[in-house]
Amino acid sequence: MEIDLRGVRIVKGALDPVAQVDMVDTIRAIAQAAPFYQPVTPGGRQMSVRMTAAGQFGWVTDAKGYRYQACHPDGMAWPAIPDPILALWEKYCPNARSPECCLINYYGEGARMGLHQDRDEADFIQPVLSLSLGDEGMFRVGNVVRGGKTESHWLQSGDVAVLGGDARLVHHGVDRIRFGSSSLLPKSGRINLTLRVVT
Ligand code: SIN
Ligand code: MN
Repeated sequence: MEIDLRGVRIVKGALDPVAQVDMVDTIRAIAQAAPFYQPVTPGGRQMSVRMTAAGQFGWVTDAKGYRYQACHPDGMAWPAIPDPILALWEKYCPNARSPECCLINYYGEGARMGLHQDRDEADFIQPVLSLSLGDEGMFRVGNVVRGGKTESHWLQSGDVAVLGGDARLVHHGVDRIRFGSSSLLPKSGRINLTLRVVT
């Protein structure tokens, strides 16, 4: 089933339960090479999500600001984006350039992400693809300009969302998660992958 949420294309159940388990193993391997860390905003506030990444670039934030960066805050290069993740991009974004970043966010109990735009990338023609795994998350979509009406949808494990075309720069965020609503992750929580073209 597909949903159009203010121009954001949501594909429900893009990954079946078996593929979701495999994807968690794939992400575990990334996190072994590049551990999750707790980002701090330039204003000095700890973000509630934990992050890591794969690909040429990861997105980092610290006292110096936020930016795409070729290495993990601990100094190691990010691992390559694994094939099962690239396959999602090829399926849902067939006309786009190859992704250069797979950002991985982990939402534990109480974690959220405020409304924001993804605009640190150089080429807004290229879409952003997100995959949700684990607990349900309330995804909110607003407008390209700040303010105005918003609508939300509970993203579930296996759902893909594509921010592309006129919806590439919409404000979006995650209000809250239903901690413990899925049994995919042993300690519960939600993982969100986003694939991006950075340059
Ligand atoms: C993000 O905007 O980077 C994450 C969106 C999500 O967690 O669904
Ligand atoms: Mn975003």
